[in-house]
Amino acid sequence: MEVIITKEAASASNLAARRIARLVRIKPAAVLGLATGSSPLGLYKELIRMHREEGLDFSRVHTFNLDEYIGLPPDHPASYHSFMEENFFRGVNIPHGNIHLPDGLASDVPSHCEAYEQAIRDAGGIDLQILGIGSDGHIGFNEPGSSLASRTRIKTLTPGTREDNARFFRKPEDVPYHVITMGIGTIMESHSVALLAFGEGKSVAVGGAVEGAISASNPSSVLQMHPDAKIYLDEPAASRLERIDYYQWVFQNKPAWQTDR
Ligand code: GLP
Repeated sequence: MEVIITKEAASASNLAARRIARLVRIKPAAVLGLATGSSPLGLYKELIRMHREEGLDFSRVHTFNLDEYIGLPPDHPASYHSFMEENFFRGVNIPHGNIHLPDGLASDVPSHCEAYEQAIRDAGGIDLQILGIGSDGHIGFNEPGSSLASRTRIKTLTPGTREDNARFFRKPEDVPYHVITMGIGTIMESHSVALLAFGEGKSVAVGGAVEGAISASNPSSVLQMHPDAKIYLDEPAASRLERIDYYQWVFQNKPAWQTDR
């Protein structure tokens, strides 16, 4: 696990964007795992800028999103389909057929989840998974208590997550109770992971993710077992870490050949 701490969220987002750009340049048909929420917004903005101004080409990229609300049609303003269209897809050139999100209207949820897993395998697995983190440590929508070996499936949101996400809905009661999310086992199979967390509100979850015991009580802590996980933080999100000086020391003293930081 590598912890990268910058003063402002924008610098961390730009570093993560550079890592993705490097991957896409080396492997034009890269498979990206995508996340929603406010945390990856700066990253998407920077990738769109790189596409427009630097010709970063996404025409062979495939994407798989982590999750979607059950019961929301794709064109619902709070659906993750809409979120991705608005904040990323409409700004880059990923062919429509290469884009995958769980279907919140699937009539047979278990079969749909199996098919989603199969589609990831058929694409050759996820090269790089982008993650945010919930204030309770959830990744995707894998709430505390989720099996660390779980696969794509239905989950019930905690009251706290429904509250956190109410800002995207017209009324708090409109937040769905159920979601489809990639499992923790699914996320762990991605070849590399970039988790972004910004703001003091994430500091407890981040502390558990990076320095806590590995436990389903903080699902993000499983990333300590991932061979290539980078955690991008601003200073407030990193404020409860004990080894903060060491993480910064590592970052400042990178060998010159480690260019994709
Ligand atoms: C939702 C998403 C997660 C995201 C989390 C944090 O629950 N399913 O993937 O990480 O929100 O969102 P934000 O980045 O807005 O704090």
